[in-house]
Amino acid sequence: MKIINLKNNMVYLKDYIYLRNTYSDCLLTKKVTKNKTKQWLKTHQVDIFIAILKEEVVGAIIIYYEKNNEITIFTKYKNKGIGSKLLFYILNKAKFNKYDLWAWIEQNNVLSYKLFKKFGFIKIKDFEKEFKGMNFNGYILKKFFKSD
Ligand SMILES: CC(C)(COP(=O)(O)OP(=O)(O)OC[C@H]1O[C@@H](n2cnc3c(N)ncnc32)[C@H](O)[C@@H]1OP(=O)(O)O)[C@@H](O)C(=O)NCCC(=O)NCCS
Repeated sequence: MKIINLKNNMVYLKDYIYLRNTYSDCLLTKKVTKNKTKQWLKTHQVDIFIAILKEEVVGAIIIYYEKNNEITIFTKYKNKGIGSKLLFYILNKAKFNKYDLWAWIEQNNVLSYKLFKKFGFIKIKDFEKEFKGMNFNGYILKKFFKSD
């Protein structure tokens, strides 16, 4: 499995969008299109790293530099180590460049919580999000590198 930056490998854009949109509700985001995403990548301080296995997009991690390095992660298959590989990849970057990372996780998202805890993220606070008129309880998890 390889991890690459979508910005430099736009041939995978369509497959990435398909995967991302299957999780739009779970990630509390609206569905996106190819053109919107292209534009968004140009105008925002973000990176999307995708995991490729046999030419298939099997996962992605988004880092929002403009939101103090928030990350979002999702995978096509569960419990095959894809999430771990993506998170490890971004953690190494953060460690090298000395910036902190954080993520919001819905309180019932046990798999995600386990994944982040495994890599040393700690729960900072409870945080409620609103989406489509509904409230979702969750946590902010953070991994510190600045002061290490
Ligand atoms: C959360 C998510 C990214 C995890 O990715 P993944 O590829 O399944 O994770 P991994 O296979 O690397 O597993 C990581 C850890 O999760 C836990 N885990 C995964 N599957 C599990 C299962 N079936 N039962 C118990 N624990 C499990 C384990 O702690 C595992 O580490 P270990 O195998 O070393 O013990 C993935 O399930 C996903 O896309 N979920 C939907 C989107 C989402 O909720 N994203 C989070 C918002 S930020």
